[in-house]
Amino acid sequence: MVIRFYCRSFNSIILLFYLISFVYGEQQSKLCLEQPQCDCEDFGDGTSILLKCYHLTYAPSFSTNVKHEEVQMDTCDGPVRIGDKTFADLTINALRFRLCNLTELNEQSFSKINSLEKFSIENSTIKPQFPQTIFNADSFQTLKMLSLKNINYIYDGTSDKQKINLDYLLEQLPLLIRLEIKNVVLDDQSSSRPSDYGRNLKHLSLTNTKQSSLQFDRFINLEKLIIRNNPQLLTPSSTNISNLKHLQYLALENNQLKLVPVGLRSTSLQELDLSSNLIEDIDEFQFEHLPQLKILHLNNNPIRNIHKNAFCSLEKLERLYIHIQYIFISPLSNCILLYKPTLQIQQHTHTRPQCDCSLLQIIEYLKQNNLNNDEHIKKYLKHGCTVTNETMKYVKTHHQQIQKSTMPIPIALLEKNLYCNDEQDKCGTPCQHTPKILILDSLSTETNDHHSSQRTHSPRNHSQHIIQQQNISGKSYANKLNVNKNIKDILIIATIVILLK
Ligand SMILES: *[C@@H]1O[C@H](CO)[C@@H](O)[C@H](O)[C@H]1NC(C)=O
Ligand SMILES: *[C@@H]1O[C@H](CO)[C@@H](O)[C@H](O)[C@H]1NC(C)=O
Ligand SMILES: *[C@@H]1O[C@H](CO)[C@@H](O)[C@H](O)[C@H]1NC(C)=O
Ligand SMILES: *[C@@H]1O[C@H](CO)[C@@H](O)[C@H](O)[C@H]1NC(C)=O
Ligand SMILES: *[C@@H]1O[C@H](CO)[C@@H](O)[C@H](O)[C@H]1NC(C)=O
Ligand SMILES: *[C@@H]1O[C@H](CO)[C@@H](O)[C@H](O)[C@H]1NC(C)=O
Repeated sequence: MVIRFYCRSFNSIILLFYLISFVYGEQQSKLCLEQPQCDCEDFGDGTSILLKCYHLTYAPSFSTNVKHEEVQMDTCDGPVRIGDKTFADLTINALRFRLCNLTELNEQSFSKINSLEKFSIENSTIKPQFPQTIFNADSFQTLKMLSLKNINYIYDGTSDKQKINLDYLLEQLPLLIRLEIKNVVLDDQSSSRPSDYGRNLKHLSLTNTKQSSLQFDRFINLEKLIIRNNPQLLTPSSTNISNLKHLQYLALENNQLKLVPVGLRSTSLQELDLSSNLIEDIDEFQFEHLPQLKILHLNNNPIRNIHKNAFCSLEKLERLYIHIQYIFISPLSNCILLYKPTLQIQQHTHTRPQCDCSLLQIIEYLKQNNLNNDEHIKKYLKHGCTVTNETMKYVKTHHQQIQKSTMPIPIALLEKNLYCNDEQDKCGTPCQHTPKILILDSLSTETNDHHSSQRTHSPRNHSQHIIQQQNISGKSYANKLNVNKNIKDILIIATIVILLK
């Protein structure tokens, strides 16, 4: 009885399944029927389709009463030819070419397309004057996204050494919001006349474009800026992003940067990617003018040292990527946990903090503040720490459990075996600028150098004393420092004046 019931319901499920797929297939074929040359996919809403055409040389005629969500031409056999009326009056949202020879296209090839928003060319061949001839068509006046990747030029006699020009492109495509160019050599010349072009751009990505200069700050509505593999573009003035009030994401990967670019100032930037550069040191307060920064990528840099005050000013920093291959001692100062205990640190699991007195100090601090069960901290410390020569200085002589070896040791063992007295309080007060005596020395040349550097309080240090001793637990303290900046500036000047006397 029971078995028969199951059999019957199973059969009816199969029947239902066939019924559904039959009805669905019928609908799909109706929309796609008229386009036998290309793979057709119903976009699901019953009114729009996606066409993928392979191995064509001549673009077929398309049905005008269907909305084309996307038309793709892929792996074309020979140079593509498009008749003057081929796309006329079609509604096409996205048009894509891949692995095609596009040298035979002309002014009429893309005229009168309705609602064209996206256009992309990938691994294809064009004539360098492609934009001049093609993008003048009315259809491109509505274009919002353009992507050009891996494009080779074919030069004919008339266009010697000409290349695609970014300024010209932006002038032709006034509504462009997103522009992505990768492995396409761009023209160096920027238009001499001041221009408004590119004001609608929100997303600009230039990878290996080889042009020698570009001032980004005129694209004032940028939210995302990606400059990869274009070291020549990153000059101090080109990386001045303070004008880009909406910029949230900045990626400067693979640009042979040896230092964090100076003058990165932004009140809106939330994510900064500096991975795959040649940065060795992260100095204190290096990111102090990026108050909204939440995510920082420093991976794949030969970083040796990250100053304990490197991230002090970053109140909102949540995640830090510092994957560094083959380094066993983390370049991160343990002291960073003092003011950033909840920072999510992503590094290789073979990279561990150094076993030393600062680590011990941090662990004490975390315990006192009930932070030692925090998930991020546990993750950071769970693989133990690495024993170094520095560690050996503080090993209690009567305990010999800690041996110098490449094996990490558990944090718990550290507490029992290191002898750290208060003077070895390595972290000191977090988020205090290290004094830079140099500036004052050069100003007080009249006085004896030895004397002056001994008597001189650095401006930062000096001002610290004026501000009453603060609660040192990180955040609020760093805040105070910012608030008192103006006062500090006045004090600096006062100090200099006194010294000059
Ligand atoms: C593209 O087509 C043109 C002729 O229209 C030809 O001269 C050129 O060699 C072709 N390029 C490639 C890469 O096939
Ligand atoms: C497209 O071009 C890139 C760069 O030249 C190349 O690495 C990639 O393999 C090409 N893709 C295809 C499908 O040919
Ligand atoms: C960056 O640009 C802004 C506005 O254009 C300017 O006021 C500022 O001085 C520049 N900063 C640097 C370091 O050049
Ligand atoms: C650590 O100490 C040993 C001997 O005490 C020395 O040979 C080695 O160079 C030191 N390593 C470092 C990184 O200082
Ligand atoms: C800061 O000033 C105090 C004296 O007020 C001095 O003892 C101390 O060494 C200074 N700190 C630094 C880091 O120079
Ligand atoms: C420091 O301030 C925080 C709140 O800002 C408070 O929770 C903490 O108890 C204070 N610590 C000391 C030592 O005053």
